[in-house]
Amino acid sequence: MTKGKGIALAETRGWQFAFQLEADEALASGKFSIPPLPQVAVELNDLANRRDPDLKAATQLVHRDPQLASRVLALASSAAFGSRVPISSLQVAVVRIGINGLRDIAFAVMMGDVFRCGALDFLMREENVRAYLLAATTHLVTRKLGLDSDQGFLAGLLADVGRIAILALLAHLGRSEPRWLAEEVPLMEILDATHTDVGPKVIAHWDLAPIVAKAARFHHTPMAAGEPLIIALAAADALVEASATEVEIEAVCQVDAIQQSGLREADLRQLLETVAMVRERSAALFG
Ligand SMILES: [Fe+2]
Repeated sequence: MTKGKGIALAETRGWQFAFQLEADEALASGKFSIPPLPQVAVELNDLANRRDPDLKAATQLVHRDPQLASRVLALASSAAFGSRVPISSLQVAVVRIGINGLRDIAFAVMMGDVFRCGALDFLMREENVRAYLLAATTHLVTRKLGLDSDQGFLAGLLADVGRIAILALLAHLGRSEPRWLAEEVPLMEILDATHTDVGPKVIAHWDLAPIVAKAARFHHTPMAAGEPLIIALAAADALVEASATEVEIEAVCQVDAIQQSGLREADLRQLLETVAMVRERSAALFG
């Protein structure tokens, strides 16, 4: 016999409540701490924020890590950054995409190393691929709308960082209490219900623009934030979803955030084509 809907809902809420208590305790006691951002990403962020950014220093920074350099080149060559031909040197990449583009790509590549999820690593990989896809799509949408596409990329990349942090926390809890990794844990419900609360708390540990934390809080309720960039991010989220499920363009046009963003049907068709190309490459890039 299947459980009644009411019982299942009460059990899910019970798990969510228990998780929130455990999470607050683990963070407050220091048993689980938010890791720092990778040093290269921090230094690139500092360089990019200077009034007169030193492009040579930024290039040298990425050069120090050959694995990072090759992945930066692969991403800089991708359709998401408007490239049609492969870029073979970091200097060319910096000229093409600018120091902010270099910083954003380095962030995307390195975010996968920030949280370790042990038993839940396979889910974290999926989250990282999707985070990159959302970042690249938000970059495209904000550029199309004449908004700050660099901020758009970072806001898209970190919108769901709460989901990754929750996976890391569950894996951490599961080491001493295996029940947190049991099948009956409503993992997706916990992630969906708590990630917009956890995400901004994680981002607060890093020295990033306030809009990035605000985007993590409001990306599913963009009208409450009233920021064009967050509406663009929610529109990008709808485009990523649409490209995965191949829904009709007419249905995409009906999404609130798409309507509020000001994107026209012709823009949407063009964006969906590019998102499909980015999607094809992203899984391989994060292999
Ligand atoms: Fe989300």
